Amino acid sequence: MKDVKAKILENEKISADYYKMTLDAPGLARSAAPGQFVQVRCGDGLDPLLRRPFSIHRISGTGDRLSCIEILYELVGKGTEILSRKQKGTCIDVLGPLGNGFILPLSAKRYPLSAILVAGGVGVAPLVFLAEELARKKIKAVALIGARTKKSVLCDKDFKDTGVEVHIATDDGSRGYKGFVSGLLQKVLRTTNHESRKTVYACGPQPMLKRIAGICREKRLECQVSLEEEMACGFGACMGCAVKVKDQAGYKLACKDGPVFNAAEIAW
Ligand SMILES: Cc1cc2nc3c(=O)[nH]c(=O)nc-3n(C[C@H](O)[C@H](O)[C@H](O)COP(=O)(O)OP(=O)(O)OC[C@H]3O[C@@H](n4cnc5c(N)ncnc54)[C@H](O)[C@@H]3O)c2cc1C
Ligand code: FES
Repeated sequence: MKDVKAKILENEKISADYYKMTLDAPGLARSAAPGQFVQVRCGDGLDPLLRRPFSIHRISGTGDRLSCIEILYELVGKGTEILSRKQKGTCIDVLGPLGNGFILPLSAKRYPLSAILVAGGVGVAPLVFLAEELARKKIKAVALIGARTKKSVLCDKDFKDTGVEVHIATDDGSRGYKGFVSGLLQKVLRTTNHESRKTVYACGPQPMLKRIAGICREKRLECQVSLEEEMACGFGACMGCAVKVKDQAGYKLACKDGPVFNAAEIAW
């Protein structure tokens, strides 16, 4: 875990409520894994006091030199509003990489493996990094992106650029499947080939993750979920992000034991 002053290389508004920020942070970029997150100090002073957690959305750079991390964020409150006004060239305080990320399938050689990535809203953020990593391992992936309307669909092009097949669900039916992304997952599972061992990777609002976990349990599919619990410290010191689990431990910490968990482990 490193606490760095990272220079903002881009802070781009990508649609009404969403921004993408690129940070020059070679140390973080070299050590980050998909599903990990960073804690960002949004203000210059003590307000807001707490850092805000954001998934590492992508690692980028020029040529072989991966020196930047990208975050994709939604404007929801004070911290993200301050972040959206940050100018290119200024520096912000970033702590990371934090938490345990997604567990990738081990090998594509012995048995065909494939991955289904299920995103709800800005939950798409860590799944783009995961898709890039899966592509590097030559593991076939499908991405299901859920959004409220066609205007809030995020990252479809990013997934396609990594060779991932993309399906879209919108609550109002303005693009793709009409309904929740969990319904789209059920539809895709009905038509998908059963030759490969599949893992479902999901990130989004808690009710969506609970539904995805239920579908995977019924279909006996391995499912990993990235939880977006509210957090304070981000590294296991404050106990502010407890998640109820089924085993005797009773609770685990989203920031330190997660944010990615095996869905079967959570007491939904
Ligand atoms: C591990 C992790 C990864 C995350 N990754 C991303 C990401 O990649 N992109 C992104 O946009 N957001 C992400 N979030 C959520 C993000 O941290 C919050 O949206 C952010 O902290 C809000 O800060 P704010 O000051 O703008 O809003 P606040 O003023 O703090 O809150 C505004 C509203 O958002 C709600 N809220 C605050 N934190 C969360 C949360 N963690 N989950 C759900 N609702 C929340 C509050 O209850 C309140 O209603 C992540 C959260 C976690 C724990
Ligand atoms: S946020 Fe402090 S222990 Fe998890």
